[in-house]
Formats: sequence, structure tokens, C-alpha cells
Amino acid sequence: METQNIATTPFDGQKPGTSGLRKKVKVFQQPHYLENFVQAIFDTQTDLEGGTLVVGGDGRYFNRDAIQVILRMAAANGVSKILVGRGGIFSTPAVSCVIRKYKTRGGIVLSASHNPGGPDEDFGIKFNAANGGPAPESVTDAIYERTRTIDRYLTLDTPAIDLDALGTLKLGDAEVDVLDPVADYADLMESLFDFNAIHQLFNSGHFSMRFDAMHAVTGPYAVEILENRLGAMPGTVMNAEPKEDFGGGHPDPNLAHAKELVALTRGQDGLDFGAASDGDGDRNMILGKNFFVTPSDSLAVLAANAHQTPGYATGIRGIARSMPTSQAANRVADFLGVECFETPTGWKFFGNLLDAGRITLCGEESFGTGSDHVREKDGLWAVLFWLNLLAVRQQSVAEIVTDHWRRFGRNFYTRHDYEGVDLEAAEGLMDHLRILLPSLTGKKLGDQTVSYADDFAYTDPIDGSTSERQGIRIGFESGARIVYRLSGTGTAGATLRVYLEYFEPDPARHQQETQTAMQPLILIARELAQIEARTGRCEPDVIT
Ligand code: G6P
Ligand code: ZN
Repeated sequence: METQNIATTPFDGQKPGTSGLRKKVKVFQQPHYLENFVQAIFDTQTDLEGGTLVVGGDGRYFNRDAIQVILRMAAANGVSKILVGRGGIFSTPAVSCVIRKYKTRGGIVLSASHNPGGPDEDFGIKFNAANGGPAPESVTDAIYERTRTIDRYLTLDTPAIDLDALGTLKLGDAEVDVLDPVADYADLMESLFDFNAIHQLFNSGHFSMRFDAMHAVTGPYAVEILENRLGAMPGTVMNAEPKEDFGGGHPDPNLAHAKELVALTRGQDGLDFGAASDGDGDRNMILGKNFFVTPSDSLAVLAANAHQTPGYATGIRGIARSMPTSQAANRVADFLGVECFETPTGWKFFGNLLDAGRITLCGEESFGTGSDHVREKDGLWAVLFWLNLLAVRQQSVAEIVTDHWRRFGRNFYTRHDYEGVDLEAAEGLMDHLRILLPSLTGKKLGDQTVSYADDFAYTDPIDGSTSERQGIRIGFESGARIVYRLSGTGTAGATLRVYLEYFEPDPARHQQETQTAMQPLILIARELAQIEARTGRCEPDVIT
């Protein structure tokens, strides 16, 4: 079969953000747009030639079209074998699992994560390296540089390949293996958690739960694992059928977007456990009866109890959290006598630490939790971890978390998001804070005294690479913190995120309502950044 050499010209703005290249579907549908980016991957990741590549996505609108393009281009660029999920489906953690299990040279993940899908919504593409994790900045920078000079791409002139039947097909000189997207991942979960104990919990007659797949990719994974392998009641997985537009919803597992699930856990007859995952299956939200576990607390609780699960029975080596994530995990690390790293936002920053064996668990306030079992955050993994703990501890979610606070103190935590803010106004606000930084240390703001104020910079302890301007941190003597950052994942305007944290050692004060307890800090944060004057917003759009 003839390789086609197609002339093209660069597009502006193909720079991958926090998690790959994310744009509106309409942008990706421009002739050559996707092709340019994919060719830039092959031109820079030259060891893909002659190797195996994993390809799959979260099933959103344009997934199937994009996969056909990538398969042809992979074959034309000399990739010898492509592992693709049936129907073009793979959750993000499942891609990572498959890259590692079959020792492939990388993978291409198609997703815009928790962003809505559909013809007028978002699409995304990212490259994962041979360790199964998102490519480091050196790689994404090289890909971006290549998109700026690209002048041709390679493809084959072939009809679309059938992705709906398992088996091996020929595509040019390459072999395409259409795999069951669930099996390898489900086996990995079974190797980490006590499925017998969870099975018993499900059949105890006094445990009720729902998992909300939000019409996104985790539906088939959750049905196989929770209902088929663990014997949960049929229907335990709600919104289980993946849809190209996620049923018109916003597949982001948080209090604002998973309302239906949240409601089911509320009141006297609320469910004992509720959990949800996002568009591509890497995020998680954990709920108990009338109880929301913040992602920061979740990381700390999992770390403190990891030894109670088979996969982590020998203990954990270290923990990492993204900078805006609360310091609750640091307290656990101190107690366990292990290292705790503070990294910039973005899962890719955990990769080196995981590869080097410096950490076992890691997490982010943005509903991401994971471990060294793969190199992506992993939604269902977190859910199973919690179920394993509930089963062995025979306690409710609320009991486990309040016990944790009693032991370690409570890091009250909230995030306030101002969405769709004018980009210039948002950048102006950040610049204003940067100018203030040198004058803040020692200053009193409200009833708090600033102990440090900086623009977070990170030097990777493994490869020495540095990342600057990762968010404004203001730490107070009380242990409280305010962090300001602009989102790196949006596709329109700017989103200002304000992360607030305050430490309360006294158990008598642990039951306060979060927003009430944090009101003084919230006011300090708004005033210092001149949020209303600069953005025109007096209240955030989303509070988590
Ligand atoms: C993606 C990444 C996460 C990161 C998050 C931050 O979900 O996978 O690692 O924490 O984006 O998003 P933001 O919108 O705050 O840049
Ligand atoms: Zn995601």
C-alpha cells in the first residue's frame, strides 16, 4: 500500500496545556488540524517507528473519526503494532495500564477529560510515554515546536477499519489489535484490592451505594468490576451507557455537576456510599451518607490506611500532592516518616517520582487520586480503595474521615472558581499579586500573619528540570494558605481558581460548616486580589 505524503501548513496554538491539546471539536475538524499534531508526535517520538502504540479515547463526539485518522497515520509512519480498544474506547487509566502491561512505546489518548462533549463542545489529544504517563514538558514542548514548522504528514489511503469486533487486522504494514478495553484494567484492580471483602460488604444487606458514570467512559468498567465481578446489585452503576455528548451533561464528578448522585446520598435514607468519575475515567468523587470527602482529605485518608489493602500492605514509600492540594497529606507523611512532595498542578509532575520509587500515592485537589499502579490518576481505583477500607474497617465514610481528623487535625479546604473571566483581567489580577509578593511576608491580613508569599516554582528532584510561575502561594503563620492560579485546561476565556485552606487541631471545632469556618480567609483572599474590581464578579461561579 502506497504511503501518501500530504502537504500541509502549520496552525497557530497547538501548544499542549495542562493535559494535552484541548480545543473545540470544530477546531479539530479543520482539514489537517488533527493530522498536523499527530504527525508532530511521530516526527519527534521517533522510537514509535517499529514499535507498539496504544490508541483509545473516552468515546466523546469525534473520537471514532480521530481514531481512524491516527491508525492510518501510525501505520504510514512505520508503527508496527497498534493496540486499540473496541469501539475506540479506553479510559485514561486503562491506556496507562495497557501501555505498562504490554510494554509499548507509548499511547495516544483522545479526551477532553471532564469538559462537555458534542459537535459544539470540546475534544482533546495527548501523548503518553512508555512509562504509561502523560509526556513530560520536554516532550510536549518538542511536539509543539514541530507543529510550528510542519509541512507534510504521512497517511494511507484506506477505508475505515472496523473497531467494533475484537481481533487482529492488517493496516498497510501494521497490525491493529482490537482489544477488550476493560479486561486488563479490571484484572489489575483485582490484584490490588480485597475483592472478597468488598463482595461481602455488598452482600451484607446493610450497605447501599451508587456509582455515577455520568454517561462517560467508566460505565463499562464499573459495570464489569462492581456488578459482574463484585456482585453489586444490577443498577448500582447509574448513567452507565457512554454517550458521545455525555447525555448533554458535564461529566465532572463534583458537587456542582454530579447533583443527581449527591441528592441520593442526602437525608435519613441517603445511600451509604456514592462515587462518580469523569469523562475519561481518571477523576473521582467520594461521598458518604450526608458527607462529602474533599479530594485532599481523600488522599490523606488513603495514605493513612493504605496498609489495610492487599496492594499496599507493605506500606507506602512516599506521597506527593499538587501545590494547591491541602497539606493534610503532609501530616500523614510526617506520621509515617515518609517524604511528601509538593508539585505543580498536573499529573505529569508525579511521573518521575513514581518511576524513581520515591512515592507510592499521589493526589490533587482537582478530584485526582492515584498510585504507582499506573501513571495516570485513576477514578475507579480510588472508589475501590475506599470500598476496600469500608469493608475492612466496618465503618461509615463519615466515621473514617472524622476519625482521621481527630488523629491528625482537620485541614478545612475549599476552592472558589471564577469562570469565563476576561483573559486580560485575569492576567492583570495575577500580575497585581506578583507585584505585591515581596511586601507581604510579616504583614497582617485580617487576623492572619503572612509567613511566606511566592510564585510557586518547582525543581524536579529526579531530572532537575524547573517549572516556574505555577501559582501564587500565600502561607500564614497559623498554617492557613491562600493559593491563586489560572486554570490551564479551559478552552474559552480564563478561569481564576482561589484555593483556601486552614488548619484546625481542635476536634470540638471539626464539625463546622466549611464555608462558614473559612469566611474570614475567603474575605482576605478576595480583597487582596481585588477580585470584584478586576473581574466584575462578587461571587465565584463554582464552589467545591
Ligand atoms: C487536568 C489534569 C490534572 C490537573 C487539572 C488542573 O485534569 O489532568 O492533573 O490537576 O487538569 O486543571 P486546571 O483547570 O486547574 O488547570
Ligand atoms: Zn479526566
